[in-house]
Amino acid sequence: MKDSNVTLMNTAASFKSHFFNITLAAALTTGMFFWAFHHASVYADSAAPDAKTLYSRYCSLCHGDQCQGAMGTPLQNMTIDDKAAIEVTQKGDGKQMPAFGQELTVDQITAVIAYVHTFDTKK
Ligand code: HEC
Repeated sequence: MKDSNVTLMNTAASFKSHFFNITLAAALTTGMFFWAFHHASVYADSAAPDAKTLYSRYCSLCHGDQCQGAMGTPLQNMTIDDKAAIEVTQKGDGKQMPAFGQELTVDQITAVIAYVHTFDTKK
């Protein structure tokens, strides 16, 4: 076989495999897009629970429905800053305060802490 023919065949083979890769990549991208879209709409449909709902579901038992405290300490007029409050909520304190980093996203926790502040009596 002449050298130039081999080169031609290699070029054709590499073109084919490129084409295949591009097709695969396009299919994956489309699939991912639909997956993400589907999930985003499912999330929106189930009406992303608001901070108040999250607080009453996850926190009020221990911290009281008005953040006045119950089994847990009051969250009214917390002396720690938001960064620390968010971190405690994510990671727990290794004692009675459970970690919520698995159940709740950072955005949700941030919203819950903001909601907690609506019960502050001192500004
Ligand atoms: C099982 C009971 C329990 C639940 C549920 C709970 N906490 Fe706590 N939390 C505690 C206790 C008790 C403390 C006080 C620290 C300790 O003794 O472990 C605390 C402390 C905290 C602190 C630190 C307060 C400070 O002034 O230092 C924050 C912030 C907090 N919790 C937020 C939350 C949020 C937000 C939720 C809901 C997502 C929540 N907690 C759910 C029991 C609970």
